[in-house]
Amino acid sequence: MHQLVLILDFGSQVTQLIARRLREHNVYCEIKPWNKVTSIPENCVGVILSGSPFSVHQEGAPLPAVFDINPNLPMLGICYGAQLMAQLNGGKVERSTHREYGRANLISHQASHVLFQEIPDNSQVWMSHGDTITGLGENMDIICSTENVKVAGYAFRDRPVFGVQFHPEVFHSTDGGTMLKNFVVNVCGCKQDWTPASFADETIADLKVKLGDDKVILGLSGGVDSSVAAVLIHKAIGKNLYCIFVNNGLLRKDEYESVLDSYMHLGLNVKGVDASDMFYDALKGLSDPEAKRKAIGKTFIDVFDAESKLVEGAKWLGQGTIYPDVIESVSVSGGPSQTIKSHHNVGGLPDYMQLSLVEPLRLLFKDEVRRVGRELEIPNAILSRHPFPGPGLGIRILGDITREKVRVLQEVDAVWINGLKEANLYDSVWQAGAILLPVQSVGVMGDERTYENAVALRAVTSTDGMTADWAHLPYEFLAKVSNDIINKVKGVNRVVYDISSKPPATIEWE
Ligand code: XMP
Repeated sequence: MHQLVLILDFGSQVTQLIARRLREHNVYCEIKPWNKVTSIPENCVGVILSGSPFSVHQEGAPLPAVFDINPNLPMLGICYGAQLMAQLNGGKVERSTHREYGRANLISHQASHVLFQEIPDNSQVWMSHGDTITGLGENMDIICSTENVKVAGYAFRDRPVFGVQFHPEVFHSTDGGTMLKNFVVNVCGCKQDWTPASFADETIADLKVKLGDDKVILGLSGGVDSSVAAVLIHKAIGKNLYCIFVNNGLLRKDEYESVLDSYMHLGLNVKGVDASDMFYDALKGLSDPEAKRKAIGKTFIDVFDAESKLVEGAKWLGQGTIYPDVIESVSVSGGPSQTIKSHHNVGGLPDYMQLSLVEPLRLLFKDEVRRVGRELEIPNAILSRHPFPGPGLGIRILGDITREKVRVLQEVDAVWINGLKEANLYDSVWQAGAILLPVQSVGVMGDERTYENAVALRAVTSTDGMTADWAHLPYEFLAKVSNDIINKVKGVNRVVYDISSKPPATIEWE
């Protein structure tokens, strides 16, 4: 069993980043809502307390049970976590006279302190707090300050317990990753043995035991997650894994054939199902974005259900679910969040299928999935592919969908994506795609008037799709692609580039 660092989540927006920083150092950790942890697992070697939108003085502010459990357990409190531990141990937390957000530089009081190893003095950190620690208990010392914050970090004298007012987990805390490593390796004694190779070996061995001679069905999407999940399960049970790859008629140009081909090269037992006609029929006359999403989702389930029934005696449904999909979040408002778009994934299968779920990637972040994929020698063409939505081009054709519109958009998209690849820009963009607008405009080609479609190009930078910025691509490149599209794709005479960020826009237009 791997050593575990437990991250208690108090509802901070950036709790996931703590886990990602630790995983970068090959340390295994899990995030748990603060109020769901009543005992410390046996393999837990340290606890990190996250930040929170709460103030320690607020009624109902989080107060976890772990504090009373083991005084020798290493703990690191971040922001709210630090304030809470300070307050509970004789210190004082007060409302800051001015809220402190943004950049600050650390002044270390104990340069040789275990948390500061390999960290230069004046290191930049990121502050984001409304309360501040103004006094410490008798058994605690200040270990660092900033110009405006006296107690930027503290340590207990008699326990391996620390608190920092800043956020070491965020990108702008330049040496924050090293500081977290110092805590988990030098204080908690983590062995840093959570590697892609160890994960793959252990997962395959576990799957062998769990699945035995059972049959598993898995819907491949062409994306990274389902592909890596499939290869892991395949390595455990071989031909008893039945993969299904559905052509919904809304994939990229030639993608159905090429993706199917690469799956076969990987040795997977995969069946391609061309159900384009069913999808086009279900979409006929629909132009409302939600109605289209629902029609595509329902048709997918019908096709998948029919195909699954052909696999006699299947007991399991394999899925590429990853950690961000399963982390239980702390609800700050208490209410459910609003549905912006109804996503469809294989996850929405009806209960009557009565298959048990097998989700080998449940504990991994996306970048870890890619690292495991590399370990399994999955081709880079699959691992570095941009995310592509389940409803495909169906949500990039605004208004109703016809075969002809799909064909036009596939051509435009192919010029756009190939252009990015040829200019070596594909990997610097998180996701790119083209959108067919329900707009015709006047143009002139040669001496002739044209009245044809406009398309929008979208390319974004992001880390997880939750927030995104439009990619600042070179004008010369955009000019060339625009020219290529208009010259090569009949029916298009105007190209625009989407310069909206998320929020307030979203990545997809529908
Ligand atoms: P939005 O448009 O919400 O997209 O900013 C965020 C990310 O999610 C992808 N996306 C989907 N993925 N099924 C999926 O598997 C869906 O229904 C779906 N809708 C959006 C989108 O491409 C982007 O990466």
